[in-house]
Amino acid sequence: MMNKSKQKEKILVIDDTPNTLEMLQRNLSSKGFQVFQSENVSDALGILETVNIDLVITDYKMPGANGIELVRHVRENYKDIEIMMITGYPSINGAVEAMKEGAENYLAKPFTKEELFEAVKTALESLKLKRKTGEVAGKLLPSVCGIIGESKAMQAVLNTIEKAAATDATVLITGDSGTGKELVSREIHYKSNRSTAPFVPVNCGGIPDGLLESEMFGHVKGAFTGATESRAGFFQTADGGSIFLDEISETSLAMQVKLLRVLQDKEICMVGSRRAQKVNVRIIAATNKDLETLVRKGKFREDLYYRLNVLSIGVPPLRERENDIILLINYFIDKFASDLRETKPYFTEKALLAMRNYDWPGNVRELENIIQRLVVMKEGNEITVPDLPSQMRFSTHREPNLKRNLAEVEIEHIRNVLASVNGNKSAASEILGIDRKTLRKKLSDFEDKVTD
Ligand SMILES: Nc1ncnc2c1ncn2[C@@H]1O[C@H](COP(=O)(O)OP(=O)(O)OP(=O)(O)O)[C@@H](O)[C@H]1O
Ligand SMILES: [Mg+2]
Repeated sequence: MMNKSKQKEKILVIDDTPNTLEMLQRNLSSKGFQVFQSENVSDALGILETVNIDLVITDYKMPGANGIELVRHVRENYKDIEIMMITGYPSINGAVEAMKEGAENYLAKPFTKEELFEAVKTALESLKLKRKTGEVAGKLLPSVCGIIGESKAMQAVLNTIEKAAATDATVLITGDSGTGKELVSREIHYKSNRSTAPFVPVNCGGIPDGLLESEMFGHVKGAFTGATESRAGFFQTADGGSIFLDEISETSLAMQVKLLRVLQDKEICMVGSRRAQKVNVRIIAATNKDLETLVRKGKFREDLYYRLNVLSIGVPPLRERENDIILLINYFIDKFASDLRETKPYFTEKALLAMRNYDWPGNVRELENIIQRLVVMKEGNEITVPDLPSQMRFSTHREPNLKRNLAEVEIEHIRNVLASVNGNKSAASEILGIDRKTLRKKLSDFEDKVTD
């Protein structure tokens, strides 16, 4: 879990020749980059909108919009992306033009693998340097446990994690099944100053009530039949570290009283002993139930609820972080393909769309399982709509998201229109019925809001 910390750089490659695209994809993936690909500029624009790309590598000559137009679009709309242009040997002029438009790097065809790696390395180093010197702001919060999430919703979660990690306060994590509650709790622990002490997850719903107390607090010799010697519980094991009480709603009222005592007095009693012992454990609890309702129904102690809910983190369902779906798909493809030492398959545009529009009742866990199955079962290198599970194949349009404000709807429409005219601002402003200046202002206002 810990070594996922290094975020892979994301490279978008655009080339109208499938062979070149495949070669770039294969070589760059083998170097550990996360690679996104597109055969034309307009699909590339869609990817740029949803994924935080670090480096764009684009062909120069392509049917439809060409590489220069893409360079221009990236320069006008994204500050934080490095661009590399691939040019055929007779068109060194193209390279000059590309540089003028702001493609900082170029690679002349034909090139070897080594030349490619060298050029990519240089481009990424220069990006890193720019980020460091503040020329562009690296704005994403890094995760130590491999939490993938660049959507606003997940960035807010990472933000709260950051705050939680800086304190010893009890945290209550809520969220539907499979949203990543356990991962979030690990992240808190490993970012806190308890990170070198144990993180002990306890599934409160999975341990029979009769056993839970001794599992939690340990027991002394002779405490009950079969207790031939004394044994430590989860709390002793977690000493100095954190305990994760998963499915906290499943604990009995009797157990809740004991947990309340731990929270109030920071002490526990081993089963069969009257002597209280101090423990130094940070408690993180999670539930996919609505604890307030359970409190109202008398199934969960109100005082315990308030003691647990000092800091709360609500992990959003996956369908509310649409922008993360593509990232997670890529992440899991990488993970499972490299586990199996398989080449990385890629999704067709339509298959990706179906995945993005699906409503993911099982959240990230469902996505993880589906990708694993697709990687294991795949026959060719391409995953198409018929390969997808049936519930997904028909999800090509979705219910409107009713939680967005007008500004968000507006910017999405603006970006869609821009993409439809390959980034041409004059054409877009004509369609939108506003002048170019207003359009540019709307785009930059929105950028400012996001980076604030
Ligand atoms: N943002 C994320 N990035 C990467 N992997 C994730 C993310 N969220 C969840 N996962 C992965 O998805 C799976 C489910 O996550 P986790 O077990 O944390 O969910 P949960 O909310 O505890 O689910 P449940 O309620 O079913 O116990 C895990 O394999 C986890 O590593
Ligand atoms: Mg869980």
